[in-house]
Amino acid sequence: MKQHICIFGAGSIGCYVGGRMAVAGCTVTLIGRERLRLELMHSGLHLTDLLGADLHVKPDALCFVTGADAVADAELVLVTVKSADTAVAGRVLAKVLKPGTVVISFQNGMGNARLLHEALQQQIVLSGMVQFNVTNRGGGHFHQGSEGALEVEQHPAIEPFIAAFTKAGLPLKQHADMLPVQWAKLLLNLNNPINALSNLPLKTELSQRAFRKCIALAQTEGLRLMESAGIHPAKLTPLPPNWIPWLLKAPTWLFRLLANKMLAIDPLARSSMWEDLEAGRITEVDWLNGEIVRLAEKMGQHAPVNARLIKLIREAEVGGKRHWLGEDLLTELKQATKG
Ligand SMILES: NC(=O)c1ccc[n+]([C@@H]2O[C@H](COP(=O)([O-])OP(=O)(O)OC[C@H]3O[C@@H](n4cnc5c(N)ncnc54)[C@H](OP(=O)(O)O)[C@@H]3O)[C@@H](O)[C@H]2O)c1
Repeated sequence: MKQHICIFGAGSIGCYVGGRMAVAGCTVTLIGRERLRLELMHSGLHLTDLLGADLHVKPDALCFVTGADAVADAELVLVTVKSADTAVAGRVLAKVLKPGTVVISFQNGMGNARLLHEALQQQIVLSGMVQFNVTNRGGGHFHQGSEGALEVEQHPAIEPFIAAFTKAGLPLKQHADMLPVQWAKLLLNLNNPINALSNLPLKTELSQRAFRKCIALAQTEGLRLMESAGIHPAKLTPLPPNWIPWLLKAPTWLFRLLANKMLAIDPLARSSMWEDLEAGRITEVDWLNGEIVRLAEKMGQHAPVNARLIKLIREAEVGGKRHWLGEDLLTELKQATKG
């Protein structure tokens, strides 16, 4: 019998991962909003990646619903809502899921899987992590704009699904301990508000040294606090996390020479925080940079750079400045460190 896989929160990540699994022959139900259902019922799904994949799912081959009832007979549920929606997702899923269903949180941030676990005591809830970027280009087109794997917490319950992910071209990388992976991804995600405030594609933003210095400031602050707390982030990139701020601060010619992999990114790709600001949605900044501020508070310390980024994004969410120049943002963040 075919496994039934449900995607709860079909947006950029959900449609891309779920769509690729559907192309690979899996039985997939996408659960999302009516506006996207209507779009996909018209256009189907078009999935591309930076390595040249070009896949289509016709509208009549898609199962996209707006209610959670479909998860009742699912063997696997991938939760891909933004962090602000996790608590609701947990409550909705708790009403319908059968005991023993495997649920993977493929979300950024540190606390989403824990929140789901609290709501889903009879299910197997695992932490996951998406290392690559996906952009919604409209008209049912979702594009993977950077390289990277799908990471997941090691658990025997994952075994029956490994083949499906591999067939979809999204092999799972299992980790005995996901916490170092999540902290390392969090360090990379500290760039999300900077990218959103730059109003530039990621590749253009990273090609400007002033913006890279902003990222380095946010990461250095995060790394210092993690060290004080005894947290050792995993090595997700060719360089260990401690070296990345040095690479970012390098002159652009040297950065280009050394950071080929970091720049192997689609020229149009942007952070999902930029997409949230564009769509007038509340961003995930509290679940990303907010984790650094909370870590500092726990130890009686401060995280002024990340706190300032949160403030600027909060302002941008309600119509504040969204087109920062690199030098201006750098001055703003340096001022924050002077109190
Ligand atoms: N996009 C990326 O490149 C990327 C890369 C790595 C990791 N991530 C992480 O992956 C997670 C998902 O990101 P994303 O960019 O895919 O977000 P997204 O595009 O906003 O997709 C989430 C979708 O879920 C919908 N949703 C929320 N609550 C729902 C509910 N109760 N029932 C049905 N649908 C619901 C949202 O609708 P509304 O907008 O109407 O609420 C939205 O369409 C985030 O934690 C993000 O940080 C993203």
